[in-house]
Amino acid sequence: FQSGSLTGKTVFITAGPTREAMDPVRYISNHSSGKMGYALAEAAVEAGAKVKLISGPVNIPVPERVERVSVESAEEMLEASMLDLGLCDIFIAAAAVADYRPTAIAEHKIKKGSEEIMELHLVKNPDIVATVANSSPKPFTVGFAAETKDVLEYARSKLERKNLDLIIANDVSRSDIGFNSDENAVTLISASSTESLPQASKRQLANRLIERISAQYKSTAR
Ligand code: C5P
Repeated sequence: FQSGSLTGKTVFITAGPTREAMDPVRYISNHSSGKMGYALAEAAVEAGAKVKLISGPVNIPVPERVERVSVESAEEMLEASMLDLGLCDIFIAAAAVADYRPTAIAEHKIKKGSEEIMELHLVKNPDIVATVANSSPKPFTVGFAAETKDVLEYARSKLERKNLDLIIANDVSRSDIGFNSDENAVTLISASSTESLPQASKRQLANRLIERISAQYKSTAR
């Protein structure tokens, strides 16, 4: 691991879940721990980068020398991601963004009715990493693909559909790695290469990922 490989570079990283409010006391969210994104932020700082960590609600302290911007909803995460995007060299989307949010946030706590069935209407959230990858100038953009089957095929189609430079695929059907686990095993896919990294702690893996990301960033014409 070559320290200093990202000296002078600015890296934005999204991490953790988003929370989509229904009313002043309730929300829709997911079990993302934020561990992978925070480990990447630490590794990027150690490689010499200036890091902005755009984080949903998680229980992890802010890593040293990392600027954390705390957000709740996907819309807030998008806004924080687009702010000063022109300064960003590498954008890594490790957040587990809620795909949908309630169409409206009730002003007051929603009351229990007499009906057995309650309907909740949802609207699609913006795709943060795709929005970043389609802006100009575009940073070197890295996404994650957590899949339970046909992992590499889905990841390749996501790489193209979202206009990413690199996608990090992981198989979340395995309970020993991925979501909420301390370990992960991934495959890096770009338009021209596929490389698997063996199972390791998220922190060790983060070092290897930052090393691979900075190497690919440097070899990409821009
Ligand atoms: O489409 P899917 O959610 O599987 O894509 C995962 C990748 O896209 C991750 O890198 C995730 O952070 C990013 N993403 C995003 N905004 C969304 C949904 C996903 O940035 N609304």
